Amino acid sequence: MIRPSALNRLRDSLPAVLPSLLLCDFGNLEREVRRLEEAGVPGLHLDVMDGSFVPNLSYGMPIVAAIRKLTNLPIDVHLMIQRPQNYLRQFRDAGADILTIHIEAVDDARPVLEQIRRLDCGAGIALNPPTPLSRLEVCLDLCDLVLVMSVQAGFGGQSFNPIALDKLRQIREIASPEVLLEIDGGINASTIAQASAAGAQLFVAGSAIFGQPDYQQAVRELTHLATPQPV
Ligand code: DX5
Ligand code: ZN
Repeated sequence: MIRPSALNRLRDSLPAVLPSLLLCDFGNLEREVRRLEEAGVPGLHLDVMDGSFVPNLSYGMPIVAAIRKLTNLPIDVHLMIQRPQNYLRQFRDAGADILTIHIEAVDDARPVLEQIRRLDCGAGIALNPPTPLSRLEVCLDLCDLVLVMSVQAGFGGQSFNPIALDKLRQIREIASPEVLLEIDGGINASTIAQASAAGAQLFVAGSAIFGQPDYQQAVRELTHLATPQPV
């Protein structure tokens, strides 16, 4: 069972640039996963959208299971769905290592995060740009990861919203040091260094990788820019 160690594997690979497969070539999934492994990514970020919590539909458990069969990399599943509590076990069984729910999608995040931990997955909570940090305070002790959205969840290719930077700084002050901070949306060569300086450790990148011909070069450049430089 590799799951409990997925968080530690990511902690050992910081700063971690995680490709969001939303924009990958789903007709050549195996080839895409191989190219990402060869590019040296430390994990994969999978965006699940239900057409209700967000106005877009992506994919569900079968794609997570297909990717699980292709790789041993940690799989970070970002659930942009209503009632995530009804699907956690299925995503875990499909191969998810980390399950991140949106705080806006549940009335009470605590039992859902507890359920994720009981399933031996890393428990993450995501906040959209307008959502205040006060929502997080009641459940931060149950989070292994906080995902700060730097775009409104739903679509790849949007512009980075700097409101995320303040949030990252504040969360770093109130969260325990083991909590991983992840940022998602509009991360590219122009924005990743600011996100890193604000405390982000995991950097989700969709268009900045899949829009490039050479994934390895894109991942290396982003990882370099996210690495704190000596002064
Ligand atoms: C947006 C998704 C992201 C998205 C990132 O709702 O959660 O993971 O695919 O794509 P880029 O990097 O293009 O903003
Ligand atoms: Zn995402």
